[in-house]
Amino acid sequence: MEFVQLTQDDGLATVTINREAKLNALNADVMNELKITFKAIHVDDGIRAVILTGAGEKAFVAGADISQFPELSTEEALAFAQQGQAIFSLIEATPKPVIAAVNGFALGGGTELALACHLRYASETATFGQPEVKLGVIAGYGGTQRLPRLIGVGRALDILLSGRMVKAPEALELGLVNGVFPAGDLLAEVTGIARRLMEMSPQAQRYTLRAVLEGVGQHISTGLTIEAAAFRDVFDTEDHIEGAKAFLERRPPVFKNR
Ligand code: COA
Repeated sequence: MEFVQLTQDDGLATVTINREAKLNALNADVMNELKITFKAIHVDDGIRAVILTGAGEKAFVAGADISQFPELSTEEALAFAQQGQAIFSLIEATPKPVIAAVNGFALGGGTELALACHLRYASETATFGQPEVKLGVIAGYGGTQRLPRLIGVGRALDILLSGRMVKAPEALELGLVNGVFPAGDLLAEVTGIARRLMEMSPQAQRYTLRAVLEGVGQHISTGLTIEAAAFRDVFDTEDHIEGAKAFLERRPPVFKNR
C-alpha cells in the first residue's frame, strides 16, 4: 500500500500513516487504505494489539485533506462524512486494543482518528484541535460525538466552537490522552504499554471492549444488560479457565485466545 504501512512484530501490529509531505492528511486513498488495513487486522488472530501513528516527527494526522472541500456538493458532503465515520467506527470496533501514538499535529480528522482508538498517548510536541470552524465546516468524522463522550460536553464545546489548539499537557489534563512522553520515547513507551496489555487474556479484552463500546452511550440499565451478556460469553472461553487455574497454581497464565 502507498500511504498506510502495516508492520508486525510478535503479535504487535504498527499501522503508520505515511503521507509526510502533506502532514499525513487524510485523502481518499489514505482512508481507503486504512479501511483495508483494519479489516485485515479484525480477522487476523495473530495480531493481539495495534499501535496507530503518523510518519515523521511533525504530524500524527493534520486532518482531512482540505483540498477536497471546495468541490463537494451537499450530497457529496453527507457521503464524505458517512464514509469517514464508517472507517473510524471500523477502527473503534477492532476486537483488540488499538492505541494511538500521537507524534505531532492531530488536527480535525487527526484528533477524530485518535478518538476512535481505544487508548491515546501523545508526545510532548503533540497538538490536538478541531479547527474545522476556522474553515467554515464542522467535525464530520465523529468529533462532535466522541469528544464530548470522552471529556464532557462543556470541555468539548470549548474545543469544537473555538477551533483552538490543545497542546499535549492540556490534553492530558482534559483526559483527552492517557499519557504524555518525550517525543523520542513515545514509540518505545507505547510499545511497552501494548506489550503489557498483550499479557492479558485477549478474549477478556475483546469482551471488555464490546461491553464498554456498546454500553457507554446507553441508559445504565441497558449497559448493565450488555455487561452481563459479555460476562456470560467470556465464561464460554478456555482462557477464563486458564486464568483462574494459573492464579491458583501461582504461575503466570498462558492464554491461547480461545
Ligand atoms: N489538508 C491538506 N493539506 C494539508 C493539510 C490538510 N489538512 N494540512 C497540511 N497540509 C499540507 C499543506 O498544504 C502543505 O502542503 P504544500 O507543502 O504542498 O504546500 C504541507 O501539508 C505542509 O503543511 P504547512 O501548512 O506548510 O506546515 P506548517 O508547519 O506551516 O503548518 C499546520 C502546520 C498543521 C498548522 C497546518 O498545516 C495546518 O493548519 N493544517 C490544516 C489543519 C486543519 O485545519 N485540519 C482540519 C481539517 S478539517
